[in-house]
Amino acid sequence: MSEIIVTDTEPLVQITLRVNDVMHTASAPTRRLLSDFLRHELRLTGTHVGCEHGVCGACTVLVDGTPMRSCLMFAVTAQGHEITTVEGLAEQVVDAETGTVTPTMSPVQEAFIECHGLQCGFCTPGFLTTITAYLRENPDPTETEAREAIAGNLRRCTGDQHRVTAVHRAAEGRKGVGGAPLVILPRPTSPLDISNPSPSINASLRAAPAKGLAQTKRYHSVRCCKHAPSQSEHRPRP
Ligand code: FES
Repeated sequence: MSEIIVTDTEPLVQITLRVNDVMHTASAPTRRLLSDFLRHELRLTGTHVGCEHGVCGACTVLVDGTPMRSCLMFAVTAQGHEITTVEGLAEQVVDAETGTVTPTMSPVQEAFIECHGLQCGFCTPGFLTTITAYLRENPDPTETEAREAIAGNLRRCTGDQHRVTAVHRAAEGRKGVGGAPLVILPRPTSPLDISNPSPSINASLRAAPAKGLAQTKRYHSVRCCKHAPSQSEHRPRP
C-alpha cells in the first residue's frame, strides 16, 4: 500500500466571522477563499461556486450589506465582518396580536417562486443576495433599472424576463402592496471590532487582496479575469 504524503503545509489561521447573525470561528489556510470557507469550513453550501473568476455572480454574498464575489475574497479578509449568505435571507415575522414569531422567506425569495424566477437553481443564491441588497438602495426600480440590477449575474437556464418581474414583485412585497405581507428586511449591523487582530491575522490581511477587488460594482460589474488569482493559486481544498 502506497504511503500518503501530506503536502499541504500551509499554516492555518483562526478566522472569526459573523455569518447570518451567528458567530463562527474556524481554522483555515490564509489563502482559503471566502466561498470555500463558507462551504467547507462552515458547511453553508447555499453559496454556489461557478466560474471562480468573479464573472458569473453565483457566489455573491453580502459583506456588511454590500454584495461581493466571495470567490474573489480570501476568508481572512472577511475577519470581523458581517456576512449574509442565501441561508440568512429568511426573515422572522412577528404577529402583532399574538406575538408569535414565524420564520418566513424574504420578499425576494417569495417573488422568485411566484414569478418562476428559477429553474435549476444553481445561480439563484447569487441573484437573491444581489437583488436583496439592490432593493434596499433602490426600492422602486424601473424596468430598465431592474434589468441592470441583475445584469451582472449570469443565468444558466431561466430567461431574464421572469427575474425582472420578480424584482418588481419583491419591491411590492417590501412595501406591503399586492397582497404581500409587510415585512422588514434585516439591516446589516456594524462591522465587528477588528482594530487589534492577532499578528497572524495581520500578516494574512497584508497578503490578501484589497476588499474592493471582489465588490460588485453597481450590482452589475463583470470582474475582469486578469485580476483573479489563477486556478493553481487559489484552489485550496480541504
Ligand atoms: Fe462566478 Fe464567483 S463563482 S463570480
